[in-house]
Parts: sequence; structure tokens; C-alpha cells
Amino acid sequence: MINDKKILFSGMQATGNLTLGNYLGALKNWVNLSDEYECFYSVVDMHSITVRQDPATLRKRARALLTLYIAAGLDPKKNCIYYQSHVSGHAELSWILNCFTYMGELNRMTQFKDKSAKHADNINAGLFTYPVLMAADILLYQADVVPVGIDQMQHLELTRDIAIRFNNLYGDVFTVPEAYIGKVGAKIMSLQEPCKKMSKSDENPNGSIYLMDDPDTIIRKCKRAVTDSEACVAYRDEQPGVKNLIDIYSACTGKTPSEVESEFEGKGYGDFKMAVGEAVVSILKPLQDRVKELEADKAYIDSIIKENAEKANYYAAKTLRKVQRKVGFPDRIR
Ligand code: TRP
Repeated sequence: MINDKKILFSGMQATGNLTLGNYLGALKNWVNLSDEYECFYSVVDMHSITVRQDPATLRKRARALLTLYIAAGLDPKKNCIYYQSHVSGHAELSWILNCFTYMGELNRMTQFKDKSAKHADNINAGLFTYPVLMAADILLYQADVVPVGIDQMQHLELTRDIAIRFNNLYGDVFTVPEAYIGKVGAKIMSLQEPCKKMSKSDENPNGSIYLMDDPDTIIRKCKRAVTDSEACVAYRDEQPGVKNLIDIYSACTGKTPSEVESEFEGKGYGDFKMAVGEAVVSILKPLQDRVKELEADKAYIDSIIKENAEKANYYAAKTLRKVQRKVGFPDRIR
């Protein structure tokens, strides 16, 4: 607990261009959690280098992501918004937790298997121990809850196993985190292959709406979205393309899927797609304007980066000192 509030941790990688799916599915909902919990939202740049990155691009994208957190409505005075690499405790705890994690456990991680298939020329040890760094992120702040997508559930389970294992050996050191299961964000699918999640690493740029796409591009992508020949705006699994567009429209307008169905009863897909495009623009345009405004205020963003890194370091150091003592590292001489 911090200030009588439960602690929440989550992070995002600054790799690839963020999509509407990242925003509607995660970021937008983080904002709703920020009153109820003491929140730590990290830009996990240390995770990013498990895959080869261009340094200048990574730096630029990390800053853009941090700015986006604020533009999306996270208050950096209330929420701790910071770069993972600015808090050395992540690396230090990660090392210790490596010694409490089994090769067999890491070998079972499906994301590791997927990523090693995808990056066969660079299956580095960091890629293998990626979930341990993630466990360190979460346990360092004694997080109670972690909002994560289904693809990260296995990593969260491992985090819990590591925490329980450590606590069994050394007493109550770590809070064992739970997945956040409140109102989950909309799961947005690709506009071109509606059975696949909208992804920032999709090769087909028409499948994803990127957060910084201009209005014309957004409208064009919506118009080209794959639908079907039913000619009926209905919310059902048999029409995955239309269903996805309804989800997007709902998430942007706050209307329920059945309200959307009635709104477009008797209307063609052309009108519907146009309306979806406009709804997306009405959400993303203000967000983009805010990003630009914030980007222009370099001193402000810098001050947020500095203050929040200090705040994160303060809480991280508390946990780390406790852990170091438990495993037998000598006390520092002051
Ligand atoms: N691995 C997560 C992802 O790619 C990002 C992440 C890193 C994370 N550390 C975390 C998410 C801790 C939640 C909690 O989506």
C-alpha cells in the first residue's frame, strides 16, 4: 500500500508504432484506474533491447511513448510515469530473481518460443530471461494488480510463482500480484484480417490504424476494411470484420453494440465505415494535438522524467534493500 491505495504496475514497449488497439485496449483504460490505485506506468526500454534496435529510434520512440501516456490523460503528478532504464533496481532485482527461476520454467514460455522462431539469428539470453525482468518490474514496486492482456498472462503467472517461491524461503518479502480483471479494454482486431489482433508489428499497414495516422489515412483504412457480403451491420461472430468495426465504433463513441446495430439498420457498409472512420478521428485527433503540444514543451516533459524517476527509485530501493539483506548481501557501510 502507498497512501492507503493498492499498487498497480504496468508497462509498454516503445517498439513499433502504437496502434488504435494499444490505445483502446490498454492505455485508455489505464486512465480509469489511476484514481483507485497508486500507479506505476513504465516505458520498458530494457525489454526492448532483447530484439536488436536502432539506438536513436529507440530513444525517440521511448520519449514518444512516455509523452503519449500523459497525452492520453495519465496525470504524471499522481501516476509514476518513467523509463525502466532510469531505475537500476530493475536490473539488480532481475539478477537476483534469475537465481530463483528455473530454465525449465523459462523454456515453457510461449512468447519465448514465438520470438526465437521470429528472430532465429539472435536468440540471446535476454530474450530467454525477459519474463524474469518483467517479474522484477512488478515485484520491485510490491504491485497488487497488473493490468495485462491475455498474451502476458503466462508471464504474470511466472511472476507469481517466483514471488511465492521467494516468500517461502525468506518470509513475506513480495506482494504476490494479481492480474487486473476489471472492465477490460476492447480487443481490436486487424482491419484486413479480422481474426488476428491489430498489431504494431503487422506487415500490412492497412490492417492497423496507428495513433499518429492523419485523418485521411484513418478514413481510408476504415473504408478499405475487410467485411463480408451479408450487407447487414450485425454484431455476430459470423461477421468478424463488421463485428470488429462495431467494437471500434463502440469504444470511440461509448455506444453499446446493439445501439450501433440499430443506428445502422438498413444502411450500407459504405456509410457505416465512414462513420467508424470519423469516430476514430474524433478520438485520435485531440490525442495527437495534445501529443504535439506536450512535445513542444521539452522542459515540462524533462521535469516529469526526472521527478518520476526519483519517485520510482525511492520505492524500488526500499524493496531492493530488503531483498539484498534476505539473500545475504552485506549491509552497506554509511
Ligand atoms: N512484456 C510486456 C508486453 O510486451 C510489457 C511489460 C514489461 C509489462 N514489464 C511489464 C507489462 C510488467 C506488465 C507488467 O506487453
